[in-house]
Amino acid sequence: MKSAKAEAHGQTPAGHEPQPRMVTVLIMGKRHTVPEHATIMRAIEYAGHQIIRGAGCREGFCGACGTIYRLPGDYKIHTGLACTTLVKEGMSLTQVPAVPMEKAIYDLEKLTPDVTTIQQLYPVVFRCVACNTCSKACPQGLKTMDYIQAAMRGDIAMIMDLSFDCVACGLCALRCPAEIVQHKVGILGRRLYGRYLSKHSQHLDDRIDEMHAGKFDAEYATLMSMAKDELSKLYYARDIEA
Ligand code: FES
Repeated sequence: MKSAKAEAHGQTPAGHEPQPRMVTVLIMGKRHTVPEHATIMRAIEYAGHQIIRGAGCREGFCGACGTIYRLPGDYKIHTGLACTTLVKEGMSLTQVPAVPMEKAIYDLEKLTPDVTTIQQLYPVVFRCVACNTCSKACPQGLKTMDYIQAAMRGDIAMIMDLSFDCVACGLCALRCPAEIVQHKVGILGRRLYGRYLSKHSQHLDDRIDEMHAGKFDAEYATLMSMAKDELSKLYYARDIEA
């Protein structure tokens, strides 16, 4: 049997796997004991919940898992992605399945890359009071308020640049006291930039021509026939651009 001291340090007798230390968290108001090094998402699952919505990539890219939480002795509401934020002792948390909003519907071909488009589609932008709450809420650490200010000036290139790593979790919009939908404005800015302002890329044209000519068909067929484990191994062994 494991000694009380060994147990306190997460140790087990030789030949046994060390037991993880546990922390107590409140998930949607209910107390659970979960492993210390679990992400919020793992902790929710460890506690017995099945995440049907609110999870996608599980790697911090898709923005499906926006979460708000409080910590003991701290009045603030914190924000994070459930798949990349680790639990902490006493954390009280809940995932936000979606942030309600009115999404502008537009035909990109009929827009101009300037402030008139922002005025037409997202006039709410001009309610910005420059409090920076959106930037503080961003789990990606983006300068969200700065790209909203750029939107007010019609600086589409700046919106694109500052919002490029947005995962559209919507936590900025959730916290904004002016009720702006920052992430949607970022998407609009990136679309306008891509359609009207980005430099022509011969390299991209060449690659698309190669795809249409079937240059990668055999490679696609191989990938499509691979088992999930095999595909996963290949994915994590890939060369990633610096
Ligand atoms: S599940 Fe995709 S960002 Fe968390």
